[in-house]
Amino acid sequence: MAKETAQAAPSGRRWLITGASRGIGHAIAALACERGDKVCLVGRHAAIAEVASALGKNAIGIAADVSQPESLANLARQVGERWGGIDVLVNNAGLHRGGTIERVSDEDWEATLSTNLSGPMRVIRSLVPHMEPGGAIVNIGAVVGFRGFPGDSCYGASKAGLTGLTQVLAAELARKRLRVNMVVPGFVQTEMTSAISDRARKAIVNRIPLQRMGKPEEIADVCWWVAGSTYMTGSVIFTDGGLMCNL
Ligand SMILES: NC(=O)c1ccc[n+]([C@@H]2O[C@H](COP(=O)([O-])OP(=O)(O)OC[C@H]3O[C@@H](n4cnc5c(N)ncnc54)[C@H](OP(=O)(O)O)[C@@H]3O)[C@@H](O)[C@H]2O)c1
Repeated sequence: MAKETAQAAPSGRRWLITGASRGIGHAIAALACERGDKVCLVGRHAAIAEVASALGKNAIGIAADVSQPESLANLARQVGERWGGIDVLVNNAGLHRGGTIERVSDEDWEATLSTNLSGPMRVIRSLVPHMEPGGAIVNIGAVVGFRGFPGDSCYGASKAGLTGLTQVLAAELARKRLRVNMVVPGFVQTEMTSAISDRARKAIVNRIPLQRMGKPEEIADVCWWVAGSTYMTGSVIFTDGGLMCNL
């Protein structure tokens, strides 16, 4: 059960992390396992079970698609049956679809909103009944949800919506003694950013005061202490090498 004290040492918390098959979500899962917590990794494909078993006996993998409501009912039921509840929920699963407003298709818009915004809302709604007082929800935002990047209407709108959801739920779920915060990565080396051209990559890195991309482990580290902080809720924590200062 989660304790309302700072969490620097292994704590026996039970985490559920969406989008944990790779990238930032996987780095958060690996860190929590390494520090002695139990972690349920969620991804869309059955291979998530093997990804979890590679992290050791404290990890389990459950396949679920956050954009599919029926998949989430099953997720909540399985976690409830196996662990009895969870202490930390990380809404990390996300996808990016780009294109100027004239080119954005309805399908791009719906897919992005249903994964990045409706997905976290539904995951939270189905898992809150399984969360213990003192628990934490960490939503993963994006700089694009705070600043206007041309060509990012779907993604920016979805992440801006997630910021609003974070703040409303921080106020709403405080009565259950659940904290809800948002960690905002800047420009991080993952599959999501791997297709960006060298030219665009250099242009973005030039705007980052620390002059480099972030690593998934650097975001995971922040998620760890945000999840364990006892007096932080409704906060937005930028972890972006200073990018927001330069936009
Ligand atoms: N990389 C960056 O620079 C950056 C910057 C700001 C914010 N972020 C945010 O950080 C989060 C993680 O991004 P990343 O860079 O690590 O991306 P990534 O490498 O593309 O990983 C995305 C993860 O989300 C999962 N996923 C996608 N759609 C899903 C769905 N419908 N249901 C369940 N899982 C789903 C994928 O798993 P499967 O494909 O196995 O299902 C994968 O594990 C995202 O929310 C992203 O918007 C990233």
